[in-house]
Amino acid sequence: MARRKKLYEGKAKVLYEGPEQGTLVQYFKDDATAFNAEKRDVIEGKGVLNNRLSEFFMTGLGQIGVPTHFIKRLNMREQLIKAAEIVPLEVIVRNFAAGSMAKRLGIEEGTRLPRPIVEFSYKDDALGDPLVPEEYIMAFGWATQQELGEIVDTTLRVNDYLSGVMYGVGIKLIDFKIEFGRIYEGDFPRLILADEISPDSCRLWDIETGEKLDKDVFRRDLGNLTDAYTEVARRLGVLPSNVTHANTKPTLIN
Ligand code: TMP
Ligand code: ASP
Repeated sequence: MARRKKLYEGKAKVLYEGPEQGTLVQYFKDDATAFNAEKRDVIEGKGVLNNRLSEFFMTGLGQIGVPTHFIKRLNMREQLIKAAEIVPLEVIVRNFAAGSMAKRLGIEEGTRLPRPIVEFSYKDDALGDPLVPEEYIMAFGWATQQELGEIVDTTLRVNDYLSGVMYGVGIKLIDFKIEFGRIYEGDFPRLILADEISPDSCRLWDIETGEKLDKDVFRRDLGNLTDAYTEVARRLGVLPSNVTHANTKPTLIN
């Protein structure tokens, strides 16, 4: 295939021009970062796993009527997506206290919250993605009141879906982050789920043991990140047999 034009490179993904107007190719890198890229490493196989897992979740959400940017997976590391204008918000749902909420409020990690809590961060690495109230979002025009209502409703549906899927394979969905984008039908903007859904942007704990199966393994130096993501993929049945060996030498077949 001819070399595609690179449009954007983020910490974990690259976006290339797509084959048709209104499409992009999303490439999943092996790079892992945490704490606004203060900590970074290359974790072999992570991109392949996240490509598969994001495909799995986006497809499932599409099947229950949640519009997403996902069109199809192209290969081990790339997927074809709809080009969307990204809403500059990280939409976070918390079912159990962990991470920044546990720290900010002094709640023990793993404490069940009275109900799922949705919060918003303004997407800006230089500022450290600060938590922002809804008032800011509307005043600064990052999203309209109507869009915000739709974002919350859809996010809670995503939470129900992901919590259920995870519960079915013995995993507790502690929290997660998603992003939305706008696509235009004529002049009318429509919100769709964008970016990715993967263990990079969720907290996933084994129900029985409490073992962490998400990016906290990297953030907190708890072990091998690829092993943790492979375990999630294996339980969900989305693991192709050779997934983590994409970069190993060819073996001789007799
Ligand atoms: P937090 O507890 O650090 O605020 O994170 C909440 C959730 O959001 C957690 O599942 C990790 C995810 N997350 C991201 O995907 N990207 C980020 O930049 C941050 C800070 C959190
Ligand atoms: N994604 C952010 C970073 O790369 C923060 C995180 O996920 O911990 O720094």
